[in-house]
Amino acid sequence: MEKTIEQIKKEALKELEAASDSESIKALSVRYLGRKGAVTQYLRNISNLPKESRPEAGKKANQTKRAIDELFKNALKRLEAPSYETDNRIDVSLPGRVTRRGSLHPITQITQQICDIYIRMGFDVAEGPEVETDYYNFEALNIPKNHPARDMQDTFYISDNIVLRTHTSPVQPRIMEKQKPPVRIIAPGKVYRCDSDLTHTPMFHQIEGLLVDENVSFGDLKGVLTTFVHQIFDPETSLRFRPSFFPFTEPSAEVDIRCVICKGNGCRVCSHTGWLEVIGAGMVHPAVFENVGYDTTCYTGFAFGMGVERIAMLKYGIDDIRKYFENDLRFLRQF
Ligand code: PHE
Repeated sequence: MEKTIEQIKKEALKELEAASDSESIKALSVRYLGRKGAVTQYLRNISNLPKESRPEAGKKANQTKRAIDELFKNALKRLEAPSYETDNRIDVSLPGRVTRRGSLHPITQITQQICDIYIRMGFDVAEGPEVETDYYNFEALNIPKNHPARDMQDTFYISDNIVLRTHTSPVQPRIMEKQKPPVRIIAPGKVYRCDSDLTHTPMFHQIEGLLVDENVSFGDLKGVLTTFVHQIFDPETSLRFRPSFFPFTEPSAEVDIRCVICKGNGCRVCSHTGWLEVIGAGMVHPAVFENVGYDTTCYTGFAFGMGVERIAMLKYGIDDIRKYFENDLRFLRQF
């Protein structure tokens, strides 16, 4: 035998490269793989080889035959495939498909804006669990066993001692147990109450604030909250601190702002009072300090809590809180 099977393959490849249309490739196929083709000839001649080298040579030749056959078939397929030049089923003048960019949920955006304001005032961001023990959600916060806040009507109970937290305030004792004063934190997160209407959803978001140090006064609380309101709404917005009650603060206050919708003239959003209630706040109750082992003779502090949805609704002029959680893209794409 003059030519090895490799040499035949090499020649076939060289000729295939030069072939430019399907007719010449088909002709090549006949010349190499046809009845009288070079490869077929080679296979036939294997019987002339010494007996012991026949199986090995036959195996190799058959493999090469299949490889060449495949190369020819692929080359044909490529030539016959539709192309932009020849196939007018593809309209290259059509506009491309746009990939839409996602964005942060409006509640996430407002949470970040609120946190940024407090971070600039020197607060750190802390977090606590959404599934909370009765102790941190109520007991440590001086909320006694018979307090209406513990009612099954308002609180989602997982078991007798485990609840879905009803506010972000349990982060207060959790942080104070781990850290000595000075403490200066905000705690954003989800909270849960069994409530559902135009202005309430069973899950919503709060941001808690806590500052403990020596000589902290109610004046400091007013300063921090006034700065916050002026930055999140408008530097002209006036505030009003109304006496209120929370078991974990004393004295306690409800913080109102001048209605951002009607500027105080009275409208549906402010129930024609000209004021909007946006923040609960007060000086940390000594009982809370005692529960976490803080010395009440040298430390005082303030705490506050606000609803993120409420602030977002006022900022964007939205009157139905449920819109935030319906996942309607026509709504969400506006932010
Ligand atoms: N946790 C209170 C609520 O959910 C708000 C609050 C926080 C009040 C901190 C005072 C101090 O209504």
